[in-house]
Amino acid sequence: MNFFSDLVCRAIRHLISAESGDSFSFVPSNRRTFPRISDMSDFYVHVPYCRNHCRWCPYNTRPYCNDEFPRFFETLLSEARQIASAGAELHDRSLYIGGGTPTCTGRFLLDFIDRLVKDFGNPSTIAVESSVDELTLYMIGGLKDSGVTQLSIGVQSFNGERLQSLGRVAHQAKAADILKSVTHAGFDNVNVDLMYDIQRHTLAELGEDIHCAVDNGADQITVYPLFRFFTKQGVIMPQIIKRRRFYSFLWDIMRSNGYVPVSVWSFSRPNATRNFSSVHRRMFVGLGPGAATSLERLFAFNTFNCKAWMHRISSGLPAYSLEMPLSSNMRALYNLYWSLYELHLPKILSKTLTRDRILDFASIGARLLGLCDKETLTQRGAFWIHLMQNQYILNYINKIWSASMRTPFPDMIQL
Ligand SMILES: C[S@@+](CC[C@H](N)C(=O)[O-])C[C@H]1O[C@@H](n2cnc3c(N)ncnc32)[C@H](O)[C@@H]1O
Ligand code: SF4
Repeated sequence: MNFFSDLVCRAIRHLISAESGDSFSFVPSNRRTFPRISDMSDFYVHVPYCRNHCRWCPYNTRPYCNDEFPRFFETLLSEARQIASAGAELHDRSLYIGGGTPTCTGRFLLDFIDRLVKDFGNPSTIAVESSVDELTLYMIGGLKDSGVTQLSIGVQSFNGERLQSLGRVAHQAKAADILKSVTHAGFDNVNVDLMYDIQRHTLAELGEDIHCAVDNGADQITVYPLFRFFTKQGVIMPQIIKRRRFYSFLWDIMRSNGYVPVSVWSFSRPNATRNFSSVHRRMFVGLGPGAATSLERLFAFNTFNCKAWMHRISSGLPAYSLEMPLSSNMRALYNLYWSLYELHLPKILSKTLTRDRILDFASIGARLLGLCDKETLTQRGAFWIHLMQNQYILNYINKIWSASMRTPFPDMIQL
């Protein structure tokens, strides 16, 4: 992150939360027992396997390995048993299975979902991430039969040349057909991930991609600019003028197709049942290597290293590698962050922050500048918020994830 934006983010963080910089540090975790987990926590499961690694992807991934799957999923079930003894309940909570590409594990994933639901109760929603290539008719039917209610497909683009610059097998002809089969299968919500600012990408091409997703029945469309992680300069993001043009194009085209904004990157059909998101959840427990856990007073990451994660879980220990205790101010700041991400101005949240008066003044100022109305951010507000969030969160991801990929148990990291 460049020095100036880092300074601005820290100053805003301090101004709003009244917490010193030292509070925002991840420290090595040496817990021998799980913390008490509220039965109101949702579940996030990380399945890191992918058949091919995309060079631009920052996620914690692991090469496809059929032989590893039985032990991997058994370990996930052991971790589920451990957090259930610490108080977590799956019944009526949401279950999100992300990656990686969970669907590349085929029947192992389906068996895992069946066993998890049988042993720990019926979740209110089950969401799964997939790439186009892993969605065979067998897999679509299997996911539906296992009770999956929401499916996200990483299409990135329907354009063969753009896919080639992303280093993906050109699945453009297949993607529209797969999307059609998925939207006809009767999931509650089907999300399509698209990307912008791929090499030589034009807005006209992005428009064609969006139309293809709309015409083939996507309930939700999420468009990310391509971020370049783990470079010497931190995360490289598209230039601001380009992003402004892209962002207003995105809002205009989505609204002209009848979709409404549901987060800084996602747009949904107005009648869609429940939005697809891993981040709507304020409190969740993470299972799997690299999964995060967010409790009322604690934020923690499991070790990113698959072997170390398996070893910890089979020894009956939490697999946390890094953790950050959260004060009530930090928890309120975290909740505020995600409300803004979902484009809402929270009514009561500011009262839980020590510096609530500053937030009250800030929201009056934001209204005068046309950045928000009483309860929601306007397009202009969403643009500025998403830039600020990118500066902060993407650089924070860059820092934590790159350290965690280098070593299973990193030293203290200050944000
Ligand atoms: C964990 S992937 C899951 C889907 C599946 N593995 C795939 O790639 O199709 C989630 C999404 O993150 C987005 N993503 C990954 N790396 C990104 C990057 N460097 N910049 C912007 N978006 C990225 C992609 O749109 C991708 O679909
Ligand atoms: S973008 Fe998806 S398929 Fe590519 S490496 Fe990342 S998680 Fe795997």
